[in-house]
Amino acid sequence: MADVAELTKPSSASTREQTFEVRLRALIWEAPGVLSLELAAPDGSALPPFAPGAHIDLKLPDGTLRQYSLCGDPNDTSHYRLGIRAVAGGLSSSFIHRHLRPGELLTVSAPRNNFPLVDAARYIFVAGGIGITPLIPMMREASTKGRPWTLLYCNRRNEDAPFLAEIKKLRGEISLHSSEAGTRLDAAQRLGTVQPDTVVYCCGPESLMTAVEESTAAWPEGSIHFEWFTPRSRPADETSDSFEVVCQRSGLTLAVPPDKSIMTVLSEAGIEVPRSCEQGICGTCETRVISGEVDHRDSILSTSERAANQTMMICVSRARGSRLVLDI
Ligand code: FES
Repeated sequence: MADVAELTKPSSASTREQTFEVRLRALIWEAPGVLSLELAAPDGSALPPFAPGAHIDLKLPDGTLRQYSLCGDPNDTSHYRLGIRAVAGGLSSSFIHRHLRPGELLTVSAPRNNFPLVDAARYIFVAGGIGITPLIPMMREASTKGRPWTLLYCNRRNEDAPFLAEIKKLRGEISLHSSEAGTRLDAAQRLGTVQPDTVVYCCGPESLMTAVEESTAAWPEGSIHFEWFTPRSRPADETSDSFEVVCQRSGLTLAVPPDKSIMTVLSEAGIEVPRSCEQGICGTCETRVISGEVDHRDSILSTSERAANQTMMICVSRARGSRLVLDI
């Protein structure tokens, strides 16, 4: 998760419990428009561990929350590293680039992982721009385990590809694709044929993710993984109906009108559920479903997870029928 295109709406204060202070110990230019931030515990102690694919919430001094992938080495818990591209019109990335300076104290959440690296014989990583960030620890781990991997790395200009020098030191095959040089990735050509024992991880802008999704439609379930850092587009003609939500543990039954989310209705009734992005991309509000069919509108759950109907993101997802019973 990264800010190629920024989240469109500042979220309200997180209700997640595990947050802590870190000190910004270094800002490093990685590529034109891309800074990496190194965050360490103020007393120098080890930070909570993380696995490849994890992200944290970063609370900015103005109170807004943003989710960023951890792109440092999971074996080094002396600091977290984030990669942040300044986005035109992006208030948070502009704020970070212009105003944050080493020494500043910031609040972050504990690492959370919706994009874990599964064990596989070989990997294909597909990145668009700053979408490279969650994939860097994965390439590091694959290299450590001696698993062959290929990176299909898409940027406007190859010279501006963030973290490329670092990635070249890992033992993998790198294929660079530049829109400016006319060498755009042909996803159908590279990924259209199922490759046995291979797992694909993709993070980048929606156009790249959609191209990879369409090209890998024939691959086995569980072999293609995406990290969305903006919500995927919804059908233009999508409508929302009212329904009833039963909060099993709270003993409340609430009406959810078409113009409100389950999360909003719960909050208005005094039930606070952990939240962060409120756009179905971070997984913080994932809630267990006891009964009722879910209309999944998040950008996290896989096809099989949706079909299992066991959990839902209550910030965006709704009911298909007239009633949902949730473990709240
Ligand atoms: Fe992020 Fe719901 S708050 S998925």
